This record gives sequence, structure tokens and C-alpha cells, in this order.
Amino acid sequence: MDAFTFHNPTKLIFGKNQIEQLNDQLPEGTKNVLIVYGGGSIKKNGVYDDVMNQLNEAGVEVFELSGVEPNPKLTTVHEGVKICKENDIDFLLAVGGGSVIDCTKTIAAGAKYDGDAWDLVTRQAKPEAAVPFGTVLTLAATGSEMNAGAVITNWETNEKYGWGAAPLTNPAFSILDPAYTVSVPRDQTIYGIVDMMTHLFEQYFHNPTASPVQDELIEGVLRTVIDTAPKLLEDLESYEHRETILYSGTLALNGMLQMGYRGDWASHNIEHAVSAVYDIPHAGGLAILFPNWMKHNLHVNEERFAQLATKVFGVNAEGKSTEEVAKEGIEALRTFWSSLGAPETLRDYDIDDQKFDVIVDRAMKRGPFGNFSELHEQDVEKILEMSK
Ligand code: NZQ
Ligand code: ZN
Repeated sequence: MDAFTFHNPTKLIFGKNQIEQLNDQLPEGTKNVLIVYGGGSIKKNGVYDDVMNQLNEAGVEVFELSGVEPNPKLTTVHEGVKICKENDIDFLLAVGGGSVIDCTKTIAAGAKYDGDAWDLVTRQAKPEAAVPFGTVLTLAATGSEMNAGAVITNWETNEKYGWGAAPLTNPAFSILDPAYTVSVPRDQTIYGIVDMMTHLFEQYFHNPTASPVQDELIEGVLRTVIDTAPKLLEDLESYEHRETILYSGTLALNGMLQMGYRGDWASHNIEHAVSAVYDIPHAGGLAILFPNWMKHNLHVNEERFAQLATKVFGVNAEGKSTEEVAKEGIEALRTFWSSLGAPETLRDYDIDDQKFDVIVDRAMKRGPFGNFSELHEQDVEKILEMSK
């Protein structure tokens, strides 16, 4: 293992009716709160009312920023920063999925920064302060509720980047009530499952050896998600299955499983470039790209792929070469995601190769990437070609 320091300052508040704890979490002396939310799902499922009841009881003045789009835009961050600066906002509350939370994180830092928040996203500037914020999560997927990362898209330049500045962009607290995720529609439920599984894979493919504890933990969460996902899709209203998936999504990307090594994260980088050009759902892109990233990198460490195949997908290794077992594992993943209804090729989103050059350019903007296997321009081109 590599040396590491682990510090996750986010207080996780999990379970039914835990919204009741909201007021107690507001910092002493909070006078006003900006709540940030998306296109209106929280008004339909009652989460907005629950949050407002709490805030009204706390006697704070409430400002609102609604309409945060999936794949949140820089222009929306600008709107939020403006509200914060004009009203001297004390606290931000994100109520929604990863997009709302990421937008809130960037607003929080942007509000205390003199220049354009895009400088922070592109890492040309480092934030020195941020407005404190909390989250009420409504969708199991990104893990943003318990990490410092945020992903923002600039539509003027077709760039989408992840950034973060721990601990400033770690939520002070996150409230996770599985009941709030029961209204997530089927497609978004599938995307969330694919996203959290890919986060687990990105970490599983790492180079430092001697990480048996992390391996077992990741394999265990993956097996649980693989077991639960079809049951949840059979019964979208099941509180129990929503609970399992919600907890899995947080655990998948809160840093717990990535101690002592860095994950790969190349597929995320390529996906961000694809959705910066085509605005497709993040995990829709991952479902297409990740199995092809696996095929492209099989040679890097066949044993690792074979371990995943046997321990997570139950591939029988008897009488087979390591390469055969590894390949069966990749096929098992493809088959599993397809059985859930996830997309398989870029054609599923009507994307052809016309703008591959733009996607490759955006993916390569920060130079070669990938910690398990470093990818260069020709690798990205190849993975995109395989994904057509
Ligand atoms: O906007 P509303 O009306 O709220 O509807 C949303 C949105 O249309 C809906 N939704 C959310 N909760 C719901 C619900 N509908 C019904 N009932 C509920 N309870 O779902 C749609 C998608 O929401 P979104 O927040 O976009 O999804 P997700 O959580 O998957 O977030 C995706 C974004 O996160 C980034 C992605 O790139 C993408 O921009 N990521 C962030 C990461 C991080 N910060 O750590 C890591 C990830 O790898 C990812 O890149
Ligand atoms: Zn992701």
C-alpha cells in the first residue's frame, strides 16, 4: 500500500425521517440559507416541503436557486454565486442528486472567490474559503454527498471537469433518507447503479499490490449491488432495496475504499469528455465505455481482471487460462448491465464518430491520464471506436 492520510469531515445522517435532524445541523448563528435544487422532482415527492418545514421552524430566511440541470452548467453556478454575494448567504443546502450537490459545492467556493468560478474548476486558482453547506440527497449514484468532488460543464467551450478542494468542498453533513429515493425513475435508478459500480471498478483497478482488505471490501459491495439491483428494478418502491443501494453508492466513493492507492479514473475522464460534447447522462456513457476500457487494458494485469471475474461474477476458472477467465468476467459485466437496461453503444444515444476528434481533444486537455494504465490520444480514440 502507499502511505495515506484519511480525513472525511462529512457527518453522515442516514435513515427514515432523518430530515428531522436538519435544523440541529445548521451552524450556530445561521441567519439565511440558500437552498439549491433541480428541475422540480423535490416538489413532486414532498422533499421540498419537508425541508421547508424544518427551515421555517428554524426561523432562517430562505433563498432559492432552482433549475440545476443534470450535468450542471457553469452558468447556473454563476447564478448561485451572484445570489450568495448579493445576500451574504450564511449556509447552502443542496437538495437533490449529484448534479445539485456538485453545483452547490462550486457555488460555495465561488461565492468566496473574486474571479470566475471556472478558474476553480479548471484548477487555475485554488479556493481559500467556502460558504459552509450541507446536502439532502435524493438519488443514489455519485457519492458526492460524502466527498469533496464536483463536476461542472462549460457549454461555451464544451468542457466538463471534475474538481474539488477538501475540506472546503466536503459537505458539513448529508442527510440520506432511502424513502426520498423511492421516486427516482427507472432510468435514473439504472444509471445510479452503473455509476456506483463503475466507481468501485475504477478503484479496484490500481497498481499497488497487497491491498487484500480493500479488494475484499470492494468485491463485497459489488456483489451486494449485483444481487440487489435486479430486485430493486422489479420493485422500485422497495424501501429495503433502496436503502441497500443508497448506502452502497455513498460507500463506493467516500474515500473509505481508496485508502493506500489511487484508482484508475480514466473511464470517468473519457465519459466527462463525451458528455461535455453530447450532454448524455454520466452513467449512460460509463455503461458504454467502461467494458471497452477493460478490453483495451486487459493486458496490463490479466490476473486482476480474472480475480474480478471469479470473485464478483462467479466465473468458473477450472481448465481455463487467466486471459479466458478475465474475458469472461468482462462479458459477464456487459451482460449484467444490458440485463438492467443500460445502454451498450454510443449509437444508443445517436452518437457517431463525427465529433470523436473534439471528444479526444477535451479528454486530453490535461495530458495523459489513468493511474492503472496511462492513456494517450490513440488509446482514447481506440476506446471510442470500440464504443461506436
Ligand atoms: O432535477 P430534478 O427534477 O431533481 O430531477 C433529477 C434529474 O432529472 C432526477 N431526480 C433526482 N432525485 C430524484 C429525481 N427524480 C425523482 N425522484 C428523486 N428522488 O434525476 C435526474 C438526474 O439527477 P442528477 O443529479 O443529474 O444525477 P446524478 O446523481 O447521477 O448526478 C450526475 C452528475 O454527477 C456527476 C456526473 O458527471 C453528473 O454531472 N458526478 C459527480 C461525482 C462526484 N461529485 O463525486 C462523481 C461521479 O462520477 C459523477 O461524475
Ligand atoms: Zn461516476
